[in-house]
Amino acid sequence: MIRASRARTLSIRRSGLRPDYTRRVDLVSVNLAKDARKAGARVGLKSDAIVVEGGKPLTGRIEVRGAKNLATKAMVAALLGDTPSLLQGVPEISDVDVVTRMLDAYGVAVTSPAEGELLLDPSNVLKAHFAQIDALAGSSRIPILFCGPLLHRLGEALIPDLGGCRIGDRPIDFHMDALRAFGAIVDKSYEGIRITAPNGLHGANIELPFPSVGATEQVLLTAVRAQGVTELKNAAIEPEIMDLIAILQKMGAIIWTEANRTIFIEGVDSLSGYTHRAIFDRNEAASWAAAALATHGDIYVGGAKQLELMTFLNVFRKVGGAFDVHEDGIRFYHPGGQLHPVQVETDVHPGFMTDWQQPLIVALTQADGVSIVHETVYENRFGFTDALVDMGADIVVHKDGLESISRRVPRRKLEQAAVITGPTPLHGADVRVPDLRGGFSYLIAALSASGTSRITNLGIISRGYERFVEKLEALGADFRLEG
Ligand code: EPU
Repeated sequence: MIRASRARTLSIRRSGLRPDYTRRVDLVSVNLAKDARKAGARVGLKSDAIVVEGGKPLTGRIEVRGAKNLATKAMVAALLGDTPSLLQGVPEISDVDVVTRMLDAYGVAVTSPAEGELLLDPSNVLKAHFAQIDALAGSSRIPILFCGPLLHRLGEALIPDLGGCRIGDRPIDFHMDALRAFGAIVDKSYEGIRITAPNGLHGANIELPFPSVGATEQVLLTAVRAQGVTELKNAAIEPEIMDLIAILQKMGAIIWTEANRTIFIEGVDSLSGYTHRAIFDRNEAASWAAAALATHGDIYVGGAKQLELMTFLNVFRKVGGAFDVHEDGIRFYHPGGQLHPVQVETDVHPGFMTDWQQPLIVALTQADGVSIVHETVYENRFGFTDALVDMGADIVVHKDGLESISRRVPRRKLEQAAVITGPTPLHGADVRVPDLRGGFSYLIAALSASGTSRITNLGIISRGYERFVEKLEALGADFRLEG
């Protein structure tokens, strides 16, 4: 879709006129609105906008199910099995729908035997039609992970243009380099990316330049059936990756991890299906925790677990939030009193996840003093703060990052820093959701602000937050849907 706007600019250049950049920005907004409607429609969300009356604490209990960032990958893993797989705890989010359609295009029968369960039958895997694949272009980043499994099953893979949140340039060079190391040939064509492996795939020694989650998954999903042993250095070790390794082991794979982010995979000749309950969505749990803090609320997040949230819980406590860990969930609440400023750097696991900074920043606008958030994973994940500033927040983004003596993570080239000075009362505004986590932050900001807010592009939030409208209702939020 961005391609369309580029094409337009080029044609204007050729015609000798100056490119109209205002129009280009508009096209990006139009495309984002289209993405939002499509994503919402995938889970039956008919409204495109929500009108929120703020100032009311969120209180009550909600449940989180399987993680978006595991369930979608587990679905891809099912392609590798000779027999059907059963995935449990699957969230009803639009990214799951996209992967279902992609699997369907390749002949994997996906049915739902019970609420939250998917049965994935790969007995009749076949080549997809270009139109089916193209229809999914721009909808999600998961299709890139189909490469290895498709190469093993069909000898070739056709991957559509990728989508996902617009939070900076999101290259796929690590993925392609890894596939080449396994012996694959990568061609870019008008259809997308075509990958073939005329001589099969063999184990490889790979060192990632950065512990990328997606590239680590790419290597795992490819190496399990490649011939020989693969050694992956500088791998991501997020809990969702460990859960994917557990799934692959259930399927018959041989994988072991060593210190210093090294993973070994010994290829096997065949894999069978799995039965697995997806690890809980810790990003969703952290988002509701931030909502409890920012709205002076009290939210019991059923299904949340302590170990995978340990780093988040430390920061939550330092800011002034309180939590009680229970057998079946965690209660997050604002215990009263003033919130405190913090300095946080996003990082790969076991550091503070980049996905947590957006919801947390809303709560930090209410802390007494100056907080600094360094974003070290993505190059452009502070765009959402503009709307918070419109709502009354004092946030300054330093696009070239900030030096700081207390830095733990070494600076990356593209890093940015946000300086949040609080407390500043927030007031309602009209805002448009820019990306998944930014969108949830706008919900939190609107709920904690005084007055009325209107939030459009609501569908984008359904990419990763299951039934968020019902959950807001259960927590006593004051809102109505529009459109
Ligand atoms: N990168 C490259 N080249 C590559 C791959 C990654 O330069 O080939 C860079 C990225 O540009 C980025 C960094 O490496 O700067 C990390 O990217 P990573 O590959 O780890 O991210 P991802 O796999 O694309 C997943 C989650 C994200 C989450 C990140 C980090 C899924 C579907 N997405 O993305 O989730 O932020 O890991 O943990 O699993 C979200 O849920 O809102 C979300 C964006």
